[in-house]
Amino acid sequence: MPSFSTMDRIALQQEAEAQRARLDAIAARKLSLNMARGKPCKAQLDLADAMLALIGPDGTKASDGSDARNYGLLEGIPEARALFADLMGVPAAQVIVGGNSSLNLMYDAVARAMLTAVPGAARPWSKEPVVRFLCPSPGYDRHFAICRELGIEMLPVAMRADGPDMDEVERLCAADDSIKGIWCVPVYSNPDGITYSADVCRRLASMEAAPDFRILWDNAYFLHHLYDDRKDAVPEMLGLCAAAGHSDRVYEFCSTSKVTYAGAGVAALAASPANVDHIRRNLGIQTIGHDKVNQLRHVAFLKDRAGVEAHMRKHAAILRPKFETVLRILDAELGGKGIAEWNAPRGGYFVSLFVEDGLAKEVVALAKSVGVELTPAGAAYPYGKDPRDRNIRIAPSFPPVAELEAAIEALCVCVRLLSARRRLA
Ligand SMILES: Cc1ncc(COP(=O)(O)O)c(C=O)c1O
Repeated sequence: MPSFSTMDRIALQQEAEAQRARLDAIAARKLSLNMARGKPCKAQLDLADAMLALIGPDGTKASDGSDARNYGLLEGIPEARALFADLMGVPAAQVIVGGNSSLNLMYDAVARAMLTAVPGAARPWSKEPVVRFLCPSPGYDRHFAICRELGIEMLPVAMRADGPDMDEVERLCAADDSIKGIWCVPVYSNPDGITYSADVCRRLASMEAAPDFRILWDNAYFLHHLYDDRKDAVPEMLGLCAAAGHSDRVYEFCSTSKVTYAGAGVAALAASPANVDHIRRNLGIQTIGHDKVNQLRHVAFLKDRAGVEAHMRKHAAILRPKFETVLRILDAELGGKGIAEWNAPRGGYFVSLFVEDGLAKEVVALAKSVGVELTPAGAAYPYGKDPRDRNIRIAPSFPPVAELEAAIEALCVCVRLLSARRRLA
């Protein structure tokens, strides 16, 4: 089939009619499919079930002899800190192991900076006339929700193939001390599946910015490769920032939400010694310690980096066919037509589809009308506003392959129908 831009009116009318007929057939199937959120599927959760049986009443002592059932060890048990330190490539003394959610650690990090002066800050951010964050977009909607909730103004920055537009990031940060942070998902980003280049990481670490500027380095997908021979990675950011003379610039986050259980994993953060001190002081008011029994269970199950990598290969075996199904259908339905583009991530949880400007909301609504639920259009942008209304996030992990096929086909039919209609209008 020729590209839409070279089709004459009759061909476009035929295309619109054909896609309308396909959509009617899809509607008649009364589908109820959901690709809205990046949740692991049941088979993925099942992979970690052996973990539940690993800790019994005799095994609740941590490696330092402390009783994991009791209060204490605010920073986490030593073996859990060591495991995360190994995974993140940082010293264990700079790791704090938290509860089950890294998002929770991120919220607390930003809220803490609003309430108490972080190292380098003249005052708590809430005492500043205005606080701004850079938001590489499309990005993770829950990062943007934290800013919205805490009254932080969001400045969108475009994502490029190698990470955020660094010329823009550098220009903005150098000129404006009210810019206090940037959200980064550096490996297999949500939703684009983009991995930052080493040069982008180096520029983030070394650029001119406010003395209390923080990089919220959300390494949610750094272990989540789809292909064993094509693993993306970024340089270790704490080291880069320290080498550039900005030791306190970065907070790094990760979790086992998509390694073991999304609702009962273990999260961790890493930061400079000064930041760790500041966090520890505040954390000690919030809690007397996180769930250390779960930390023990995780170390017993995952053991070390090799154990984690072996486990992640089992996830990849489940996820790879799903991603490949999405990409195969996108290619067959939309490839070469000049009406959509998308990325082919080598890991993570999402595929980002870009349709023509002004069509994303309509596509998502039409898909919903035939029983296919997608992430609301615009969700991946600050304030829920995609300025070009063209990004649609596809989350392939949860539905079985057969449902995914039906859902992506329906999505593509919606894109083709609306693109043809627009040209005919
Ligand atoms: C980029 C990113 N960060 C964090 C999270 C949530 O992590 P956690 O379950 O550790 O709170 C997600 C979940 O989808 C995510 O996509």
